[in-house]
Amino acid sequence: MKATAIASANIALIKYWGKRDEKLMLPQNSSISLTLDDLNTVTTIEFDKKHNRDTFILDGQEFKRGKELEGVVRHLNLIREISGIGDKAKVVSKNNFPTAAGLASSASGFAALSLAATKAVGIDLDSKELSMLARRGSGSATRSCLGGFVEWEKGEKGDGTDSFAVQLAKSGHWPEFRMLTTIVSTVKKKVSSRAGMVQTVKTSPMYKVWLDTIEEDLEKARKGILEKNFTLVAKTAEINCLKMHATMLTTQPSIIYWMPATLEIIQAILFWRKEGLESYFTIDAGPQVKVICLKKDVSEIEKKLQNIKSVKKIIICKPGQSPQLSQKHLF
Ligand code: PMV
Repeated sequence: MKATAIASANIALIKYWGKRDEKLMLPQNSSISLTLDDLNTVTTIEFDKKHNRDTFILDGQEFKRGKELEGVVRHLNLIREISGIGDKAKVVSKNNFPTAAGLASSASGFAALSLAATKAVGIDLDSKELSMLARRGSGSATRSCLGGFVEWEKGEKGDGTDSFAVQLAKSGHWPEFRMLTTIVSTVKKKVSSRAGMVQTVKTSPMYKVWLDTIEEDLEKARKGILEKNFTLVAKTAEINCLKMHATMLTTQPSIIYWMPATLEIIQAILFWRKEGLESYFTIDAGPQVKVICLKKDVSEIEKKLQNIKSVKKIIICKPGQSPQLSQKHLF
């Protein structure tokens, strides 16, 4: 009852912000993302009678208490419920990028955990079922259960059975599409997205605008992806990101994930674009800026980013694959 899985993070082009059901993790709106090939979590899990409690070790550090451990144990309880297996588990994970700094570590984390854990207990799920299970761990994990361009359909039902991920296009559909993740800070964020979105739905006067305009953004992104219309996809993603941050900024108390470096990169991108370099940005619940561009412009954008002092690291990502099982166990 041991298995290992690898899953890639995803970055939303059209964001999800706000839930309609906290327990079942059902979103207020659908979202669209790109699975990224170079931001991965590897997870090995073992259910065994010899374990007298659930343990979770991430990047060599054991979480003895706190939100991370609680989230993993809650997920393991779900898997025990589905499988009827009562054993405790040891979970060891490794991220190849900084955790919890707005880089979607929970997305790849819960996608990898869901695949490894179900395999370990002998349950085979298709990608739709896997995405519904991963959703219970973290909303964005729903989308990491498929490769390429992915939509998480919000669903309408109260039981969540119609809230899952579907693939809009495989990774091979648009191999020139790039997302450059800049890392400006690895400090853990103060407001989790889970807590932040509850507060936004409750208090932001902009939240109604967010919901009123989301369908239009989703439609433009779907069309742009299928037609490989870069300007349409990237422009819509940038505006959608700014709208999400407008709801965060106008939350009481205000949620500001940006740092001075975030704004510095935004300004630079706007300037490059004026000069004819097609680059756009998107930002999640953290300070890192992701630059959206095409392969032909990567080296020029990378050079320009390297000249910005606050950029500590740049990770260049292409469209990535669905989660995979692996024989290389971490313990
Ligand atoms: O995966 P969660 O539930 O922590 O939420 C993540 C939300 C954003 O990253 C800000 C947007 C998104 O759609 O991924």
